[in-house]
Amino acid sequence: MRFILLGIIATILTYAKTGEEIFKKRCGSCHIDYIPQSKLIKNYENGNQELNLTAPTLTDFEDWVIENFKTMPPIKLSEEEAELLAPYIFNFAEKMMVSHSVKRYSYEEALKKAQDENKIVMIEGYIRFCRGCIKMDREVFVEDRVKKALDKNFVVVKMNMLLEKLPLNLKSMGTPAFYFITKDGKHVIDKIQGTGTVEEFLELLENIRQNVKDGKFLK
Ligand code: HEC
Repeated sequence: MRFILLGIIATILTYAKTGEEIFKKRCGSCHIDYIPQSKLIKNYENGNQELNLTAPTLTDFEDWVIENFKTMPPIKLSEEEAELLAPYIFNFAEKMMVSHSVKRYSYEEALKKAQDENKIVMIEGYIRFCRGCIKMDREVFVEDRVKKALDKNFVVVKMNMLLEKLPLNLKSMGTPAFYFITKDGKHVIDKIQGTGTVEEFLELLENIRQNVKDGKFLK
């Protein structure tokens, strides 16, 4: 009886694997799950000599994959493994960005947090597959300096411009777009559309802070 029980427990333990564990075990010998985009860009500019990757991270852009790698060898997976892996690698790039990025809140949560902590609300307007938005997510929002600056003085909200309505009767612009709102939710400090570098984005955040100090609002 004891042996049967132990057997059952062992079986459960063997199968109670997560998609992440299977990815590490079956794919991790070639694929590193996350490398900051700034490092990837440098690496591919130098013909993959810096990191010498054997496979793309699953966040790489298609052009880099085609230019730098040969075809992936066939890999045999059990049905069990495939079933667990599929949801894990679905939206992988997006998930990696979210987990390495600044924390986002709902607008209601953000207003409360902004009031409690004397911060500015920043709404990041995006739509899916907008290249500029993906660029900002991968190249700017995951950088430590940007995360620190945002954490210190801002509360970030991400809104899908096709599905969600902006507060204060704000009209959506092209994406990505950034709307800065005072902690009481009454004033629009500024709105900016487009992409930028880490430096440019940090400068923008500084300007917004200055505008709040000077009481300068758009409306
Ligand atoms: C022996 C090394 C190796 C292993 C192990 C491996 N891959 Fe790959 N993989 C590659 C290479 C090389 C490429 C790039 C060429 C290509 O797309 O075929 C690639 C490409 C990919 C891509 C396409 C990436 C893109 O951005 O286009 C996916 C998805 C992928 N692999 C998933 C997996 C999964 C899931 C596993 C584990 C079950 C796995 N790979 C195991 C080498 C490997």
